[in-house]
Amino acid sequence: MNKSALIFGVTGQDGSYLSRLLLKKGYVVHGVIRRSSSINTKRIDDIYQEPFTKKKYFILHYGDVTDGSSVFDLIKKIKPKEIYNLAAQSHVAVSFQVPEYTSNADALGSLRILDSIVKINPKIKYYQAGSSEMYGKVQSFPQTEKTPFYPRSPYAVSKVYAHWITINYRESYNLFACNGILFNHESPLRGETFVTKKIVKALCKIKQKKQRRLYLGNIYSKRDWGHAEDYVVAMWKILQYKKPDDWVICTGKQYSVKEFINLVAKKINLDISWKGKGLKEKAFSKDNKIIIEIKKRYFRPSEVDNLKGNSSKAKKILKWKPVKDLNNLIQDMVTYELKKLSNEK
Ligand code: NAP
Ligand code: GDD
Repeated sequence: MNKSALIFGVTGQDGSYLSRLLLKKGYVVHGVIRRSSSINTKRIDDIYQEPFTKKKYFILHYGDVTDGSSVFDLIKKIKPKEIYNLAAQSHVAVSFQVPEYTSNADALGSLRILDSIVKINPKIKYYQAGSSEMYGKVQSFPQTEKTPFYPRSPYAVSKVYAHWITINYRESYNLFACNGILFNHESPLRGETFVTKKIVKALCKIKQKKQRRLYLGNIYSKRDWGHAEDYVVAMWKILQYKKPDDWVICTGKQYSVKEFINLVAKKINLDISWKGKGLKEKAFSKDNKIIIEIKKRYFRPSEVDNLKGNSSKAKKILKWKPVKDLNNLIQDMVTYELKKLSNEK
């Protein structure tokens, strides 16, 4: 009998990598998609199976974590062994624009799934996609499972709720419910408005003279960036461990956004030099043209300046460690972008 998993957020970056991983492991994967006016399944189109296929191992269903009845009905119908809740309005800056919706999806979405599990089958294992954003204004360094949270955005506050409701349901109803506290992870499939993808895409285009300028916000914040392909392995391992628990998943290395820009520029042989300070800081090309400008509109009402994790617990107990470093990540993202640009010719 194949194991079955249900993924909320299957169309996102992590949903796509996780689906592939589980399919490789022989799971039947059920994914929840939302209705949208234009098709948004491009990250999973290559593993999509026609509804008429006889032996189906990748099955999509319409649903939404803001709609309790759809969550309940799907879990009841599918009866999965494992549920991965990756569904979220996941953009921190956007969460300040749509705080109520973000809270509904990111905080109450988790509650809806957990509550359905209790009512349908408390043996279903649950993974909650927690975030290093929960550490926010960091209280100690590097951050571990024991570091207190200090969330700095509606997104992060919602994730703190989801974290604690997961623990509360685990303790109250004896659920196998786990939190992964994942630090930033990127890939060629990263959403276009996250900073790494925005930088890689723009610099590749600038190098080929297909774009003139890139506009960014705070380039001095620091992040612990890993590769999504490694991080979905951690999600799976978390649900295979003998007991439910909470886990920090990170690389333990930290770079600023500006350092990330310089590394990408070096990778594609784009000469850049920096001049000025604050909002007047700019990056120039070899022929003295402005290629990067700082714009106030990309700053957040409150920023998370400094994230760096320590995943010793996952390394020791789950035997998880990242395979790809920042150089591999940038290489993967650049290769993908350059190939896409050459196909557009
Ligand atoms: P992503 O690319 O933005 O994907 C989010 C997914 O959630 C998409 O499939 C999206 O569907 C879906 N979704 C959004 N609102 C929903 C709703 N109301 N009902 C059902 N599905 C909904 O995010 P990601 O980078 O893959 O991250 C996956 C999860 O990990 C998220 O919960 C994120 O907050 C969390 N996380 C991410 C990172 C990271 O660095 N990537 C780090 C820590 C935690 P549409 O395609 O229809 O929009
Ligand atoms: N998006 C974006 N766009 N960020 C910018 C820009 C810009 O133009 N300019 C500077 N930044 C800075 C942000 O202010 C932030 O400090 C940093 O770049 C990273 O921003 P994002 O790539 O948007 O990621 P994030 O760290 O806010 O959030 C991501 O990681 C979290 C885990 O820590 C998201 O994937 C979250 O969903 C995830 O939980």
